[in-house]
Amino acid sequence: MSTLNSSILQIKDVTKVFKLGGLLFGSELSAVDHVSLEVGREKVLSLVGESGSGKTTLSRIILGLIEPTNGQILYEDLDIRNAKGRQLRRFRKEVQPIFQNPFETFNPFKRVDRYLLGSALGYKVANSKSEARRIVSEALDIVGLSYTMVEGQFPHEFSGGELQRVSIARALVTNPRLLIADEPVSMIDASTRMGILNILMDLRKRFSMSIVYITHDLDTAYYVSDQIAVMCRGCVVECGDVEDVLTDPVHPYTQMLLKCLPEPDPTRRWEGHIELAGLEVKEYETAGCKFSKRCPNSEDKCLKERPPDVEVESRSGYRFVKCWKCVREGV
Ligand SMILES: Nc1ncnc2c1ncn2[C@@H]1O[C@H](COP(=O)(O)OP(=O)(O)OP(=O)(O)O)[C@@H](O)[C@H]1O
Ligand SMILES: [Mg+2]
Repeated sequence: MSTLNSSILQIKDVTKVFKLGGLLFGSELSAVDHVSLEVGREKVLSLVGESGSGKTTLSRIILGLIEPTNGQILYEDLDIRNAKGRQLRRFRKEVQPIFQNPFETFNPFKRVDRYLLGSALGYKVANSKSEARRIVSEALDIVGLSYTMVEGQFPHEFSGGELQRVSIARALVTNPRLLIADEPVSMIDASTRMGILNILMDLRKRFSMSIVYITHDLDTAYYVSDQIAVMCRGCVVECGDVEDVLTDPVHPYTQMLLKCLPEPDPTRRWEGHIELAGLEVKEYETAGCKFSKRCPNSEDKCLKERPPDVEVESRSGYRFVKCWKCVREGV
């Protein structure tokens, strides 16, 4: 296990191509398209972008829940595709998800404390029931709850905000190093959102955790993250220090997002069928820039050829922008 490497997670040229059914049967869609990113130790990386930009697909690839079509995920230099036995168990303990809807995280018919104790025993972080109870109590304390508050309760007896705290506690039971939080506050009442984000930020400081924070909401991304990656139709089009990217966006897509980002629709859920119009699929599958059809600066080359990552000088020292305009203007 390397301690020299400053990143805990490396995403290397990852692509995920889905084969579509229904009316678009036979078409393919690159939901994640040659994405390379790194997550630093004790750092928060936000993944932002419109609906359908590939954020959840990438997060599921990182968690090993779906196989990429190409590319590699290295966790502490371990290629997770090749992980087996002890290494795989360690990866599953150390990399924990937090999902958008806490009510879907828990079995509705199972008491929450049983679930948490089961996690501690199942992941073998506890060898006895009493040890499991101690570990679960500690995890609940960290998120501002207590064992007695959750004992004997079913998921529906909590508010969304409380249950999301419980689901963070569930993740903490295994003493993770990296959290993958996919829209963890988008379904939570606005008044309790900041409390949950503050817990995540506190975890990073107190326990040196790294976090991938996925969101539609640029305000919260600005609040919690160190780095930000902006995704458009599967590609990362701009990536750098959050302050640089959000206060002085370079890619026209980032500029558009900052002007008008639609709120996520909590009722919308991926249900295994595709409802994209053929035109939208073409946007994913273009040989050019993924934003070229909507970009005000688009030129012929933008429509035909994928731009390279251009290193743009910024206050923090680096930023990558995938845009022909940067190449043309030599920024
Ligand atoms: N199993 C699947 N089969 C076919 N297409 C899929 C599948 N899962 C996701 N997609 C498509 O891949 C693209 C990326 O979806 P993804 O859910 O990763 O986006 P997202 O950025 O998380 O969106 P949102 O912000 O709405 O959660 C979308 O066009 C989606 O319809
Ligand atoms: Mg998503």
